[in-house]
Amino acid sequence: MTTLVIGANGQIGKQFCELAQKADTPIKAMIRSEEQAAWFKERGIDTVIADLEGEFEHAFEGCDQVVFTAGSGPHTGPDKTLMIDLFGAIRTADIAKQKGLSRYIMISAMRAEQPLAAPEKMRPYMAAKFAADAHLRNSGIPYVILKPGRLTDEAASQRFASSFEEAGDNQISRANVAHALLHTVQSSNVTNQEYLLLDGKRSIGEIIQ
Ligand SMILES: NC(=O)c1ccc[n+]([C@@H]2O[C@H](COP(=O)([O-])OP(=O)(O)OC[C@H]3O[C@@H](n4cnc5c(N)ncnc54)[C@H](OP(=O)(O)O)[C@@H]3O)[C@@H](O)[C@H]2O)c1
Repeated sequence: MTTLVIGANGQIGKQFCELAQKADTPIKAMIRSEEQAAWFKERGIDTVIADLEGEFEHAFEGCDQVVFTAGSGPHTGPDKTLMIDLFGAIRTADIAKQKGLSRYIMISAMRAEQPLAAPEKMRPYMAAKFAADAHLRNSGIPYVILKPGRLTDEAASQRFASSFEEAGDNQISRANVAHALLHTVQSSNVTNQEYLLLDGKRSIGEIIQ
């Protein structure tokens, strides 16, 4: 069961790839350039070069499920949000379905179901996440949607919460998201589920099951 990691060179992506490799969980890291490949090769991780704004169908070859943790990031405008977070995500779900992959695991965002509730500057991004999630739900491919809160660079506590009341806050470390992703990737029986993910006090197995 090989997992294609879209956004593998990102901050969550790299931490997830390292965890997966250490856990002998087969992955293929989708990256954007040859220069990025060295970090993965040093760790014995397979890579494929592809861009969400171009043709990327070849990246899916030999893969059984997908993790989407790509994003245009806060330093680009709504044009990239449209092409990567929305259209890129939609196209990957369509290809995953067309190729008969067993599952699609999406890194969405907290409150993606309510884009108008976000601060004005964030609304195009939240709308992109909203629409990409909706497309995935309707795609027919078994899915898991993980909705992390505000991302931090804290070390992994490996302790989680799945509601704002339980967490008492709205954040989660990228390291914890990487652990949650690994658990999800390894739990092939979890399908058509959505989880808000925050730092908390419970193990990931108590939340994602
Ligand atoms: N920031 C937050 O508070 C927050 C909250 C909830 C959810 N999220 C979501 O969390 C996910 C990852 O977060 P992160 O901190 O790991 O982000 P990140 O470090 O910015 O990583 C994003 C990755 O996406 C890749 N990417 C961008 N454009 C691409 C394209 N055209 N084709 C292929 N790959 C492309 C980047 O590639 P390069 O390395 O080549 O640039 C990068 O590796 C995103 O889906 C984001 O929307 C963020």
